[in-house]
Amino acid sequence: MKLFSPLAAGDLELANRLVMAPMTRLRSDERGVPNALMAEHYAQRASMGLIVSEGVFPSAESRAYPGQPGITDDEQAAGWRLVTDAVHAASGRIVMQLMNGGRVTTTGITGTDRIVAPSAIAIDGETRLADGSKARYGLPHALTTDELATVKDEFVAAARRAIDAGFDGVELHSANGYLLHEFLSPASNTRTDAYGGSPAARAAFVIEVAQAVAAEVGAGRVGNRISPSHNIQDVLETDPADVLATYGTLVDAIAPLGLAYLSILHAEPAGSLVQELRTRFGGTVIVNSGFGEVTTADEAHALIDDDVADAVAVGRPVIANPDLVERWRGGHDLNDVDQATVYASGAEGYTDYPRLSA
Ligand SMILES: Cc1cc2nc3c(=O)[nH]c(=O)nc-3n(C[C@H](O)[C@H](O)[C@H](O)COP(=O)(O)O)c2cc1C
Repeated sequence: MKLFSPLAAGDLELANRLVMAPMTRLRSDERGVPNALMAEHYAQRASMGLIVSEGVFPSAESRAYPGQPGITDDEQAAGWRLVTDAVHAASGRIVMQLMNGGRVTTTGITGTDRIVAPSAIAIDGETRLADGSKARYGLPHALTTDELATVKDEFVAAARRAIDAGFDGVELHSANGYLLHEFLSPASNTRTDAYGGSPAARAAFVIEVAQAVAAEVGAGRVGNRISPSHNIQDVLETDPADVLATYGTLVDAIAPLGLAYLSILHAEPAGSLVQELRTRFGGTVIVNSGFGEVTTADEAHALIDDDVADAVAVGRPVIANPDLVERWRGGHDLNDVDQATVYASGAEGYTDYPRLSA
């Protein structure tokens, strides 16, 4: 039952090794301001050892979804204060996932005159606007070398705002095809400056952002999430040698910072890639085996008991079971996720899943 034992991750004290995975739920308003309903949702899940918030945009042009919350101004920060106060009142811990959506959006969502990416390559596909209609993904502006400094500063400012709004830390979203991940892959990064070309050059921007955010808020409050070879949203990483070189460079560079944790989404957490990255990182590692199969209690126990990782990020079961820790501890049945309300608005399928005691 090591899964239920405490864990120190940098400055973060986790009561158990179950981490609520970051999950976009689109419940904020059109301006991206968090609200009391979101505070209630997260507070209901405070028995998880750590909550990672849904991906939060650090600048208007990096917003990926209507209903996604931001951390770009005081009004959004005040909304997040409702969330952090509620989670802390319930004895929980919460970090904010900082997510620059990169090219996974369109100006119909951002309301800006451009969207950005490492290179001017659009995703071949469609996204949904606020009115429910579909739109092609936009053609991104390839960020200039100078503009990268601004994007980095936006991450730093967002991290500062998050900490000032009461978050216990921040997690950099370097996974799942969004901006930081777009830098890592040769399919989405065809730059010819110092931030593209070789594996080391593709890793450089993620490393710089991690260093800058750690310098601002303290490395012990910063986590980083990666998803090597996840192959999502046209961010393809299909050459194993290139993947190891790229992520190896990244992990070697951030290891000396003393970050709170490295979170790895990969279908084979016990496989050689994840285990080599874990060894080279040297600190707390959280794993999640991805979307293929929903995380189960048996899988989570095995990952910890077999020392594959220090903690497990759990997604979909936490949507439907605010008291997942109690349920898994006691071997109880779980509520099923209602797919129709995952990305809907309002309380239904968000704050109304019953607890065992109800
Ligand atoms: C509704 C939903 C929203 C998600 N949003 C995010 C997100 O904002 N950031 C992120 O890093 N991962 C996101 N994920 C991925 C989850 O963190 C997790 O990796 C995935 O659900 C697989 O784990 P599970 O089998 O425990 O659900 C999302 C997953 C779901 C189901």
